[in-house]
Amino acid sequence: KKPVTITTIKDMKQKGEPITMITAYDVAMARNVNEAGIDMILVGDSLGNVILGYQSTIPVTMEEMIHHTKAVVRGNSTALVVADMPFMSYQASLTDGLYNAGRLLKETGCTAVKLEGGQEVCELVHKLTTAGIPVVAHIGLTPQSVNQLGGFKVQGKEVAAAQQLLADAKALEAAGAFACVLECVPAALAKKVTDELITMATIGIGAGNGCDGQVLVCNDLLGISTGFTPKFVKQYANLHDITVNAVKDYIKDVKERSFPAPEHTFKIDDSVLEKLY
Ligand code: KIV
Ligand code: NA
Repeated sequence: KKPVTITTIKDMKQKGEPITMITAYDVAMARNVNEAGIDMILVGDSLGNVILGYQSTIPVTMEEMIHHTKAVVRGNSTALVVADMPFMSYQASLTDGLYNAGRLLKETGCTAVKLEGGQEVCELVHKLTTAGIPVVAHIGLTPQSVNQLGGFKVQGKEVAAAQQLLADAKALEAAGAFACVLECVPAALAKKVTDELITMATIGIGAGNGCDGQVLVCNDLLGISTGFTPKFVKQYANLHDITVNAVKDYIKDVKERSFPAPEHTFKIDDSVLEKLY
């Protein structure tokens, strides 16, 4: 597979070829999803919930994003790696946004950054893209604003909110974002937004199959943990059960002394042992 660039993604939108994206947070997962042929890897700030055990994405820091993005970049060879800008790394000023996006590209080797918001982030999106930093936008349900939104719920259901979503998407396209995540948006609205855009590819999560592409959190897709799973997740494997059963088998083998077996064991010549005193 040829390395994916933002030109590849733009071409895929023009040709109507579905774009695939998945999150990853470490080198092992990056290698696996890259080998599978994924187009884009997102080092999401879902890192906070999925890997670090926070209750939301709000506590995630620049240092944590950089640490994990570096690992993902080392495991990748052909996918386009996008790193999330964490909460408050770009909201306070344009200078913060430019500085922190620059850090992500310079210190990790990722290709693009993702940030949440509509018209209010357009000036930053324009400045970033002009400076040479490709941007993925993110509208609809924006988890960094969960406290302001009053919870995790579907966005854009009323006329004013739907109109705002469409206006935000068009403004982000004009500002230069090459792609935009649409999270938890009614399918027909996501399709309308997608059809109205000319260059910016829409990447849906809980936004139906009318988007230009789809993204899922790798831990959700692989069933790595139990507990709450959103309606929009399709679980393609149950690594939770595979993991727990494998570790149970290991525990049993150790307790029975059936592991390690001779084939897992290093040998020494008897003559050496005989000389010990
Ligand atoms: O952080 C994340 O994983 C995301 C995706 C859900 C789009 O932003
Ligand atoms: Na995110």
